[in-house]
Amino acid sequence: MVDQRVWDESQLRKYDFILKKIPRLPYDDPRVDEMIAANQPVVITGSRLVETAEKWDLDYFNENMGNDNCTVIYSRNHKFKFYDDSKASPDIKAEFTPTRKVSMKMSEFVRRLKEWKKGDERMYLQQVLNDTVGQQIVNDFLGFKWSWVNNIQKRNSWGSLTYNLLLIAMEGNVTPCHYDEQQNLFAQIRGLKRCILFPPEQFDCLYPYPVYHPHDRQSQVDFDRPDYTRFPKLKDLRGQEAIVGPGDVLYIPNYWWHHIEALMRGGYTISVNFWYKVGRTGKVAYPLKGYQKVAIMRNVEKMLVEVLQDHNEVGPLLRSLVVGRYTE
Ligand code: SIN
Ligand code: FE
Repeated sequence: MVDQRVWDESQLRKYDFILKKIPRLPYDDPRVDEMIAANQPVVITGSRLVETAEKWDLDYFNENMGNDNCTVIYSRNHKFKFYDDSKASPDIKAEFTPTRKVSMKMSEFVRRLKEWKKGDERMYLQQVLNDTVGQQIVNDFLGFKWSWVNNIQKRNSWGSLTYNLLLIAMEGNVTPCHYDEQQNLFAQIRGLKRCILFPPEQFDCLYPYPVYHPHDRQSQVDFDRPDYTRFPKLKDLRGQEAIVGPGDVLYIPNYWWHHIEALMRGGYTISVNFWYKVGRTGKVAYPLKGYQKVAIMRNVEKMLVEVLQDHNEVGPLLRSLVVGRYTE
């Protein structure tokens, strides 16, 4: 079999950060369970979780996806920063040239992708796998190794599976650095993706947008042009990375930051996310874990935004609450 994990450095985007490797372990290695239990990222090999999807490609989707609309995101550059429309307001909207979401049938997406020329807006299909997909894809989906993931879910007391997201990226597409509030088993099906992760403890180095902002949970830092004056703690950023290929499953623990790029000149990529609600957070013990801190901060911030009703009031109020009282 050809090694599908061949790439060279020139296919990776260049960043300033110090990165070590995320461990790669076979699915039956006991260390996999230990790492998941400890909320540590790991690339799991050989699980055959999505083996029935190995044959998925654009032609297969064209034929079998069904006629329902899919969500396709368009971007004027290579970055697809998530934008929550429900949080948009006139004063915030004006600052951005966000990506735009378009609904279209899979056949239309495939046609546009095949006709795509350099200089056109880039496309990224991000569609929840639901029961409107065609029978063949339903069969493939039912053939996933559910017993394996269900076991992981049970052993770690995760909540329910929320949904599976199908991601079809053009080569070179980037999902900029953000965190999700769910456990994620990220299954790679086709092509190579580079995943750069940072632990929740690095919250201060990544300067997330405020919670009321449409870019909530995203870092304000532009990795292509890091602004060390505006974001001085960025110099302390330390991450871990992995290149995932077909058959690999990357565990992205909840609240871990992740930046994901489809390798340049690698063709399109296909991935499927398995997202699980977080389980019981366990007893609060000190020192607080990074993710517990982030969860608490989010709740306090949300409450203040809600009661004050004007987000411009949040900073001054927090400052009078803290400075000189809770500071040394
Ligand atoms: C991606 O694969 O581009 C994004 C996946 C994620 O953020 O969970
Ligand atoms: Fe994510």
